Amino acid sequence: MILVAGGSGRLGTLVVRRLARDGHDVRVLTRDPARAQHLSDVAEVVVGDVRDPSTLPGALHGVTTVVSAVHGFDGPGGVTPASVDRDGNARLIDAAAAAGADVVLVSIVGAAADSPMELFRAKYAAEQHLRASTAPWTIVRATAFVELWADILAKPMVFGRGDNPINFVSVHDVAAVVARAAVDTGLRGQTLDVGGPNNLTFTQLVAELQSLRGDTRTVRHIPRAMLRVMSPLSRKAATALAMDTTDLRFDPTASPNAVVDLPLTDARTALEASVR
Ligand SMILES: NC(=O)c1ccc[n+]([C@@H]2O[C@H](COP(=O)([O-])OP(=O)(O)OC[C@H]3O[C@@H](n4cnc5c(N)ncnc54)[C@H](OP(=O)(O)O)[C@@H]3O)[C@@H](O)[C@H]2O)c1
Repeated sequence: MILVAGGSGRLGTLVVRRLARDGHDVRVLTRDPARAQHLSDVAEVVVGDVRDPSTLPGALHGVTTVVSAVHGFDGPGGVTPASVDRDGNARLIDAAAAAGADVVLVSIVGAAADSPMELFRAKYAAEQHLRASTAPWTIVRATAFVELWADILAKPMVFGRGDNPINFVSVHDVAAVVARAAVDTGLRGQTLDVGGPNNLTFTQLVAELQSLRGDTRTVRHIPRAMLRVMSPLSRKAATALAMDTTDLRFDPTASPNAVVDLPLTDARTALEASVR
């Protein structure tokens, strides 16, 4: 049995469907079964919250591998990167270790203790907790999901100057790697970096989206100065500012991954599929 925490989300849903399609027994951990309703034909659904360790042992009954695709950047329930990505993942990893299960942790390319982004620091802390745990582990670090950003920038809107190259990856490619990591025990002890073939600025990404949608509206910019003012009060503004000013490029062909046949969907193909 494979437990997917975050199985109700954008990435998790694809991972659950892939694993079920390949004949694996899958259980989804969610705080609200209604959010996993779309998976009830292929997976068991169990209620739990990674912030509440008392909910985890029952969810782990009979589980051999735990996939963590949770995040607390935003969403319902008053979540934060500290409470979900750092501490919640630590609770989940401890529960998995106690149950004798392997752990596949979904993290972020660029996760580091000194990152300007709170989420990246929290992911790094979770990675370190996992590396120090007794659970056999694989970490899958991904760059920005192009399908998520297609939704965020749809207005059309650009954060800051929009001239900073960022690596975007298709969430379908990330799901393929996470699902493989869940079942391939030869990948234990590995950190797999997954990025797409394109480094695009927000301006380029919005232009691609507009051309695919036949959208001729003027693109609105949220000025960098406004993001700076909002940053102390808004996690989203602070992240948008960091994405406009931090080096977020990635060369997927240069990463020494143990998985040699990583899928590499280009951003336009992924966008075409997401706007269809
Ligand atoms: N989006 C990106 O660009 C990006 C880039 C790199 C890495 N990642 C990572 O990829 C993973 C999936 O991201 P996504 O964008 O697909 O996420 P998403 O669609 O926003 O889904 C978030 C998931 O987290 C779960 N969750 C949140 N708080 C929880 C809690 N306290 N206890 C249990 N579950 C909780 C939610 O489950 P319920 O609401 O059902 O409880 C939901 O399934 C995350 O680890 C994220 O950090 C994302």
